[in-house]
Amino acid sequence: MLKKFNLFHSILGIFFKNRPYDEKEVEISSEAYFVRAIKLDDIKDLLSIEREVYAGELPWTKTAFLMELQAAEPHLYLLIKKEEKTVGFIGCRIFGKDAHITNVAVLTHNQGKGIGSFLIREVLQFAKNNGCETVSLEVRISNKNAQRVYRQLGFVSNTIKPNYYTENKEDALEMILYLKEE
Ligand SMILES: CC(C)(COP(=O)(O)OP(=O)(O)OC[C@H]1O[C@@H](n2cnc3c(N)ncnc32)[C@H](O)[C@@H]1OP(=O)(O)O)[C@@H](O)C(=O)NCCC(=O)NCCS
Repeated sequence: MLKKFNLFHSILGIFFKNRPYDEKEVEISSEAYFVRAIKLDDIKDLLSIEREVYAGELPWTKTAFLMELQAAEPHLYLLIKKEEKTVGFIGCRIFGKDAHITNVAVLTHNQGKGIGSFLIREVLQFAKNNGCETVSLEVRISNKNAQRVYRQLGFVSNTIKPNYYTENKEDALEMILYLKEE
């Protein structure tokens, strides 16, 4: 039975692996949004979200986004729009059996409406489709708001990475979600 189950998942995996993300309209908390894979032309929108969310600072430069979007490893970069305006984005890259969330942000005015959780769940599905066992991320030790969102989705604290954020030497908390076969 277990072997049959594993075979079924392997076949599903071959089917879903490396499939381009199908853009779609979604409803989150009774509001309509549009989600699609990020293209190179979208980087200016991502930079402007970062500027708004991080009070003028840019954790990621244009070059950093360009490199991620063209990475050799399997990756998923998604943006979400409300009435033509990009209100959030997420990125992840797969390293072996781990899908690492590299970046996630939602415009301040649109936070607390379930958008971030929705984007993370899309990454969890992508990770499962690609045979990952875990999903991981780093978050500032002071960013309790984001940590709460991650915990609600099933992430647990792993290690502390001292002085991870170079500009203020803040520690990072690494959080991990263990994916289970359903
Ligand atoms: C962290 C971040 C991405 C989360 O995105 P978000 O869209 O605000 O997250 P969600 O709305 O899914 O969840 C936030 C809260 O809203 C709640 N929520 C979810 N759906 C909701 C809804 N329909 N209505 C009201 N609240 C809702 C969640 O339960 C959660 O509640 P909590 O505050 O009690 O934990 C976002 O806050 C952000 O961009 N922060 C700044 C950048 C940042 O810190 N990025 C992470 C770096 S590691």
